[in-house]
Amino acid sequence: MFYKDNEKKRAHRTHRMTQNFFSHNLPVFFSVCSVCSQLRGLLFKRRNDMKKLIIMIISVTFVFSVVCAGDFFYVGAKKCKMCHKGEKKGKVFEKWEAGPHAKAFETLKKSGDDKKPECIACHTTGFNADGYKIGDDDAAKFEGVQCESCHGPGSAYKRISVMKNRQKALENGMIIPTEETCKLCHNKKSPTFKGFDFKEAWKKIDHTYRKK
Ligand code: HEC
Ligand code: HEC
Ligand code: HEC
Ligand code: HEC
Repeated sequence: MFYKDNEKKRAHRTHRMTQNFFSHNLPVFFSVCSVCSQLRGLLFKRRNDMKKLIIMIISVTFVFSVVCAGDFFYVGAKKCKMCHKGEKKGKVFEKWEAGPHAKAFETLKKSGDDKKPECIACHTTGFNADGYKIGDDDAAKFEGVQCESCHGPGSAYKRISVMKNRQKALENGMIIPTEETCKLCHNKKSPTFKGFDFKEAWKKIDHTYRKK
């Protein structure tokens, strides 16, 4: 559910990752190329060494995907806190912390359901999507419905130079959430679901502070 709707976003993300890969990793790319061309001479001495070539292609692809996957990942709400707390910044963090989403994992702990994947998906951040996995060392970082559940994984947009510029932030994975974002979790798959009124629900968690 949650991540099915995210597939489009992921495809988009992958595209951006590729762009990022080329802009940030050109040196890596060229060194891989030079290794390749050196190996080429070696490999083609023996014609039946096709296998080696295939293995090499696979491993280069693997390195490529690992480097790319590293670009957009969940960093946890503490990283957002440093810039989004306090009066001047609209007390965004404080409002979230006092609201229902910050406590979503506590709810599962109370009933002993905090190890159930079928519950965790909507009560934590980025479950199985480069974020939270049961048993992870840093699992505590992703407890509850945090900023990134709605605003997207923040590894690339959290830098001040990117954050200040909405367009750049969007290009680096930031999401301006809408009613559809809420419905990724506020839907019939929630065992306690009793309908969802976006306007009413938003009033309860509104953390906007800037004049439009
Ligand atoms: C280094 C400081 C910094 C960090 C870290 C940071 N932000 Fe920001 N963020 C800003 C600034 C500056 C703005 C521009 C608005 C302002 O000045 O109040 C902004 C704006 C935003 C906006 C509004 C975008 C828009 O155009 O409507 C969102 C959403 C946001 N940040 C979410 C996050 C999230 C989620 C995180 C953590 C993953 C995060 N930020 C981390 C500094 C930061
Ligand atoms: C990642 C899943 C997820 C997303 C996305 C999400 N929520 Fe929630 N929301 C929850 C969970 C889980 C709870 C229950 C928290 C608890 O009490 O343990 C909750 C509770 C709430 C509550 C308090 C209970 C209620 O119904 O009055 C409000 C209000 C709310 N969410 C509004 C929103 C709005 C508005 C959005 C979209 C902007 C949104 N949520 C997006 C998971 C999510
Ligand atoms: C599809 C996402 C989703 C899944 C899966 C999910 N929840 Fe929730 N949960 C929510 C949302 C959203 C809310 C708040 C609104 C509502 O009740 O639908 C919530 C609210 C709750 C509440 C009520 C909190 C309160 O005090 O009002 C409890 C308890 C809860 N969930 C337990 C569970 C358990 C246990 C599981 C696993 C069996 C589970 N949830 C699976 C999304 C989900
Ligand atoms: C349940 C989903 C949800 C969560 C969790 C959430 N936000 Fe938001 N956030 C929204 C929505 C929806 C908007 C309004 C978007 C718009 O402008 O239409 C918003 C707006 C913002 C803005 C812009 C405020 C303005 O005045 O323009 C900032 C900054 C922001 N969020 C930061 C955060 C940070 C930091 C956290 C975590 C501490 C967080 N958000 C958690 C849904 C969420």
